[in-house]
Amino acid sequence: MTLAELENAKAESLKEIAAANDAAAVEALRVKYVGRNGSIPALIKAMKDVPKEERPAGGGSSGEKPVDADLTLPGRWWGLGVKHPLSRVIEETAAIFGRLGFTVADGPELETKFNNFTALNTPAHHPSMDRSDTFWFGEDCLLRTQTSPVQIRTMMANKPPIRVICPGRTYRRDTTDATHSANFHQIEGLYVDTKPVSLADLKSVLAYFAKEMMGDGVTVRFRPHFFPFTEPSVEVDFTCHVCKGKGCNVCKQSGWIEVAGAGMVDPRVFGHVGYDPEKVSGYAFGFGVERIAMIKYGIPDIRWLYENDVRFLSQLA
Ligand code: PHE
Repeated sequence: MTLAELENAKAESLKEIAAANDAAAVEALRVKYVGRNGSIPALIKAMKDVPKEERPAGGGSSGEKPVDADLTLPGRWWGLGVKHPLSRVIEETAAIFGRLGFTVADGPELETKFNNFTALNTPAHHPSMDRSDTFWFGEDCLLRTQTSPVQIRTMMANKPPIRVICPGRTYRRDTTDATHSANFHQIEGLYVDTKPVSLADLKSVLAYFAKEMMGDGVTVRFRPHFFPFTEPSVEVDFTCHVCKGKGCNVCKQSGWIEVAGAGMVDPRVFGHVGYDPEKVSGYAFGFGVERIAMIKYGIPDIRWLYENDVRFLSQLA
């Protein structure tokens, strides 16, 4: 077929379309020209026979729309997606800590026993190491139960000062219910320096984070706790976003919601990564991302975060 023949076919078809005066005639022409065995698909196939020099012009003709569409029809709106609330919390956290000089570090979800437990000063009899609490793959390989092993990786690969946050997936053999999931997310934070770092530094950084993430109304509370890798250790609570601290069902009448574990890095952990505990000090913390998202957006059930139901996700747009 030559370009001239192609142009003729086009003129012919446009004439027929213009003459069609009811829906059935238009449908018949649709089948004739653009249906599966229609002449336009055949023409496109025949392009290979058009002489090489004419091919660009011919291609343009065969692909053209045969008739103008009805310009008064409303356009098609496919809708823009929104970022998942967990991604939003992670990105916002990275931005907030970025303003304080923290960078983002990453680590694998499949970890060694050393990085996830031993280097973090976890005693061999600790319940978290039990097969019923952790997903093990053999003697030395497991799905990390916390983002704290990224502390170990970061310290082993760098010298102080270190300021990192490490967001990522973590795994525990929990039964899933409204507030637990076997796979969840944490954001670890670590600051280590050769100048003295104190609990007051940790407190001020977490108070700043709380205000930036939750707004001015939030207060931060430290409660004494135990973690093998920090000493002293604390659990960190935010004032309940629902009752503003008065006490309600969401906070079990306490006025507070637990969001993180934290503390001063235990000198033994420094020993495990080859730092001199006499020369460095630092703090670490670990947030639950789902926890923050549930408080921030008022989500009552953790499972909603994993179901990919647009009726839920689009409400957070
Ligand atoms: N890794 C602890 C947990 O998962 C949280 C934590 C992180 C505590 C850093 C102290 C310091 O519960």
